Amino acid sequence: MNATGSIVAARAEMTHSKVVLAYSGGLDTSVAVRWLQEKGLDVITLTVDVGQPGDLEATRRKAEKIGAKKCYVVDAKDEFAEDYIARALKANALYEGQYPLSTALARPLIGKHLVDVARREGASFVAHGCTGKGNDQVRFDLCTTALAPELQVIAPARVWGMSREEEIEYAKERGVPVPVAVDSPYSTDENLWGRSVECGILENAAIEPPEEAFEWTTSPAEAPDEPAYVNIRFEAGTPVALGTRSENLLTTINTLNRIAGDHAVGRIDHVESRVVGIKSREVYECPAAVVLIAGHQALEAMVLPRDLLEFKRSVEARYANLIYEGLWFTPLREALDAFIETTQERVTGEVSVKLYKGSARVVGRTSPYSLYDPAMATYSAGDRFRQEMAEGFIYVWGLPARTWAAVGEKSRPRLVKAAKRAK
Ligand code: ARG
Repeated sequence: MNATGSIVAARAEMTHSKVVLAYSGGLDTSVAVRWLQEKGLDVITLTVDVGQPGDLEATRRKAEKIGAKKCYVVDAKDEFAEDYIARALKANALYEGQYPLSTALARPLIGKHLVDVARREGASFVAHGCTGKGNDQVRFDLCTTALAPELQVIAPARVWGMSREEEIEYAKERGVPVPVAVDSPYSTDENLWGRSVECGILENAAIEPPEEAFEWTTSPAEAPDEPAYVNIRFEAGTPVALGTRSENLLTTINTLNRIAGDHAVGRIDHVESRVVGIKSREVYECPAAVVLIAGHQALEAMVLPRDLLEFKRSVEARYANLIYEGLWFTPLREALDAFIETTQERVTGEVSVKLYKGSARVVGRTSPYSLYDPAMATYSAGDRFRQEMAEGFIYVWGLPARTWAAVGEKSRPRLVKAAKRAK
């Protein structure tokens, strides 16, 4: 039997068992507090600060008011930046080549804190507010049980069978505060690495997202007429300074979200393939992620050899998929991290990114490990490249193709006959 099935069946047994609920303060998780209590559980809420807006102290008080026995708020912004975003950046992780995985990447972190609190409190259950149609349920379920196989996961919204209207009704009947944002046509999720927007008119994939769907980015039409340039210094694949100021990753991300967002950078409109098989139209705003990944890629292009770049691209795609699919706490992720880490040793240097009306283009890069040698590349006099050597190289390089063509030439009559017979 699944976790929730056994819960409903064995209600008596669970009386006063503890459950740690990932609590956002939204409608689903607020209703979940009460719903779990009505199933006989002692509810402990956990709100993890991953850089989402809003007053988390107020969120905590709200959980208390609904009846949670204990309410944790954990500031995990630095941990998110250093242990999760930094790795994703080294991997240039973009799901299906587009989405920087902002929502996806925060899930294992929240899952880890759920497990920490569950162990501290002696809880047998963890819970989250995800529905049965999305990716986040997969990530929470997998990440928590990968760290603590003894825990059972409850996802009330996956099983309670209430429509949104019924949820509001349920909340009102029990005095559970209904968030004002309940009228918003969109479902959103925000953290340091980006903002995800779905539902409402966005479900029509044929229509351009209305301006009101965006909050972090100015529209390109209204962005400043003067471009902005940001200089980012990387050390071993991690941003360590913006302009002339040393900054930790958290500050760098916050600053870039603001500057790049003002220049309309970071809007992504993606019809994506969910883990559960559904295609969904998602709109994202990820200004800092877009700028940092572009800068990081440009630096790698300069310091890494071609075969490594090419091989790393296949690792990057795999890495992005595993983040998306909730497989963060797996030996595969650790092994890929080890590979990626060795590639980053020389990814040190500076890039200059030009932000202008929605675009972020790398316009300059320097590195002590640059493989780019102007004396080799130049067409001007005095270059060091020995052009006459190219002829012999091409003779050998082209040998397989010439051999193939020559054999085909010789056996042409036989090939023609065989083709006729086949008809
Ligand atoms: N589709 C994205 C993902 O699976 C974002 C989902 C975010 N949730 C939301 N309520 N908008 O990572």
